[in-house]
Amino acid sequence: MSGFLHQRPIHNPFSDRYPVSPRSSSISQRPFSIFSPTTIIVLLSLIIVLGVFFPWVSMPEGLFFSTKLGTTKWRDYTLTQAASFVAKNGTLIVCAVSQPYLPFLNNWLISITRQKHQDKVLVIAEDYATLDKVNERWPGHAVLVPPVPDAQTAHKFGSMGFFNFTSRRPRHLLQILELGYNVMYNDVDMVWMADPFPYLQGNHDVYFMDDMTAVKPVNHSHDLPPPGKKGRPYICSCMIFLRPTNGAKLVMRKWIEELQIQPWSKAKKANDQPAFNWALNKTAGEVDLYLLPQAAFPTGGLYFKNKTWVQETRGMHVIIHNNYIIGFEKKIKRFRDFGLWLVDDHSIESPLGKL
Ligand SMILES: *[C@@H]1O[C@H](CO)[C@@H](O)[C@H](O)[C@H]1NC(C)=O
Ligand SMILES: *[C@@H]1O[C@H](CO)[C@@H](O)[C@H](O)[C@H]1NC(C)=O
Ligand SMILES: *[C@@H]1O[C@H](CO)[C@@H](O)[C@H](O)[C@H]1NC(C)=O
Ligand SMILES: *[C@@H]1O[C@H](CO)[C@@H](O)[C@H](O)[C@H]1NC(C)=O
Ligand SMILES: *[C@@H]1O[C@H](CO)[C@@H](O)[C@H](O)[C@H]1NC(C)=O
Repeated sequence: MSGFLHQRPIHNPFSDRYPVSPRSSSISQRPFSIFSPTTIIVLLSLIIVLGVFFPWVSMPEGLFFSTKLGTTKWRDYTLTQAASFVAKNGTLIVCAVSQPYLPFLNNWLISITRQKHQDKVLVIAEDYATLDKVNERWPGHAVLVPPVPDAQTAHKFGSMGFFNFTSRRPRHLLQILELGYNVMYNDVDMVWMADPFPYLQGNHDVYFMDDMTAVKPVNHSHDLPPPGKKGRPYICSCMIFLRPTNGAKLVMRKWIEELQIQPWSKAKKANDQPAFNWALNKTAGEVDLYLLPQAAFPTGGLYFKNKTWVQETRGMHVIIHNNYIIGFEKKIKRFRDFGLWLVDDHSIESPLGKL
C-alpha cells in the first residue's frame, strides 16, 4: 500500500505526455491557438483515435489516468477553503488520518452520523491516497496541509515518524482557530455513543478528557487534574474541543513549543501527549480549562477493563476511546468484542460508504 503511495508523484506525468486528452481541457486549449487549421484537424483525429482506442489498448493505465485527473483538483484545496465549506454554525469536527487508519475513520464516521454531526467533519488527510479517497466519496470533506509526512515511518506507535506525524496536530488546530472556528479534534479510534456537544458547557477555552484509569466520583471537579508521577497531568490528546479564543491559541502555541523543547528520543519514545500536558500545566493560570466528566468520556483503560464501572455508569457514556492497547488488529478485535466495530454491518451509514 505505502509502496504504491510513493509511486504517486504530485505532478501528473500523464498530463504532459498526452496533452490532447479530452479530459484535460485547460491544457489542450493552448496548442489550438498556436497551430494551423491542418494541425488542428490532425490533433482532432488523434483525440478521436485516442478516445476510441486508448481505453481498450491499455485498460489499467487508462483507468489510472482518468482517476488521477479526476482527483488532482484537491491538491490545491486549502484549509481555509475546506473549513469554510465544511463548518456549520462556526464549528468543525476534525481528525488527522493516513491511509492505514481508513477503516477506523469509517467506523468513527458512522457513529458521528448517528448523532447527525457528520456535516461538520473535516478529515485532515496525511497522505494523498487518503485525500483522494475521501474526496472521491465525499467531495470537499478532506484537505491536505503540506508538507506530506513520510508515510513509511508515520504509523508505528512510539517511533520518530509517529511523533512527527502527531506533532502536526497542534499546528492544524492553531490554523483552524486563527480562521475563527470552534474545533473539536478526535482520534479516529473513537466511537460516539451520544452527542458530545451538550457536554461542552459554558464558555471555556479548552475542553478535554482524562486518560487516567482510576475511578473518580461522578461529581468530580472540572479543573485540570493535579500532576501525576511524571510531574504533569495525564490528559488525553485524543479528544479536544477549542474555542477560537486567545487562551485556546496560547495552549496550541505552547504545545508546539513543548514539542520542540522535548523532541523525540530513542530513550523516551514519546508521542505528542506529554507535550500537550506540559502545555496545559504551564498555561493553566492564564487559560480557562475544562475537564469533561469521566463517566461520559472515559479512557479506554477504564471502559474496556472495568466491567463493574461500565455497569455502574450505564447510559452515561458519550465517547469511547480504544486506547491502552497497541496495534490495528488488536484494536479492531476489541471494538468487535464490545459491539463497537460498526463497519462490518453498518458501512452504508457512513458518508464514505463501504471502503
Ligand atoms: C450554534 O452555536 C451557538 C454558539 O456556539 C450555540 O449556542 C447554538 O446552539 C448552535 N446552534 C446549532 C443549531 O447548533
Ligand atoms: C522527524 O522530524 C525531524 C525534525 O523535523 C526530522 O529530522 C526527521 O528526519 C523526521 N523523521 C521521520 C522518521 O519522519
Ligand atoms: C461530590 O459529592 C460528595 C457527596 O455528595 C460531596 O461530599 C463532595 O464534596 C462532592 N464533590 C464535589 C467536587 O462537588
Ligand atoms: C505544573 O507542574 C508542576 C510540576 O509538576 C506542579 O508543581 C504544578 O502544580 C503544576 N501546575 C498545575 C496548574 O497543575
Ligand atoms: C472498577 O470499578 C469499580 C466501580 O466503580 C471500582 O470500585 C473499582 O475500584 C474499579 N477497579 C479498578 C481496578 O479500578
